[in-house]
Amino acid sequence: MIYLKTPEEIEKMRNACAMVSSTLGEIAKWVAPGVTTRKVDAIAREYIHDNGGKAACLGYGGFPGAVCCEVNEVVVHGFPSGYELREGDIIGTDVVVELDGFNGDMCYTFPVGDISEEVYALCRTTKESLYKGIEACREGNRIGDIANAVQTYCEQRGYSVVREMCGHGIGRKMHESPEVPNYGRRGTGPVIRNGMCIAIEPMINLGSKNIVIERDGWTCRTRDRKPSAHYEHTVAVIDGKAEILTSFEPVYAVLQDRFI
Ligand code: MF3
Ligand code: CO
Repeated sequence: MIYLKTPEEIEKMRNACAMVSSTLGEIAKWVAPGVTTRKVDAIAREYIHDNGGKAACLGYGGFPGAVCCEVNEVVVHGFPSGYELREGDIIGTDVVVELDGFNGDMCYTFPVGDISEEVYALCRTTKESLYKGIEACREGNRIGDIANAVQTYCEQRGYSVVREMCGHGIGRKMHESPEVPNYGRRGTGPVIRNGMCIAIEPMINLGSKNIVIERDGWTCRTRDRKPSAHYEHTVAVIDGKAEILTSFEPVYAVLQDRFI
């Protein structure tokens, strides 16, 4: 069942998305060598709480953080921990905020200090592929058109697409129908309609597409331990096309010329 949102509901989505965007801006102030991922999580938790939102990942299926911390080879669902970020790392921070009954979901992969050209290019391409997916998200298209746009863009540049993890519908629940894969064939899958709200989130690997889940039951990493990048926006289909409800602007404002 795909829930189409009314304009009033989309306004609430917008507010949740604004808060998750500014939360990522707060995180951006802290990402640096020597900072633990637990500190990053604490900053986000406090910010969301102080602003009257709910950190929706915290306790979701037993997840122990407000922020999924994705360092280097971690694809998704890494726990905040005592790990101290190091120069040359990348860290994806994936956050969901619930506000007034609706959710906003967003992820940004940050460079920690200077990173290699190779890893920078992976991040850049992953972020660009997110916008390719968003362009394909139009009324009358199908979910497979989004998937194919992401896959084609990344594979043409020599990267691989994680298969097991997908984007998703979003609204009153963090995860709603439909699933939004990052690979697939054009013209397949559910038809995109005005009022649909979805989270599009390419997870792209430098090496092979294969992943493993660690013994904690959550942490998803690349099998070859090569880096993986992840960017995510929540969008709403309005007047035939996708409007991006989340924003990287608060992140860019902090990173200035260091943004990816
Ligand atoms: N934000 C993730 C997503 O994009 C989900 C987080 S999983 C949780 O779907 F368990 F940590 F909440
Ligand atoms: Co998501």
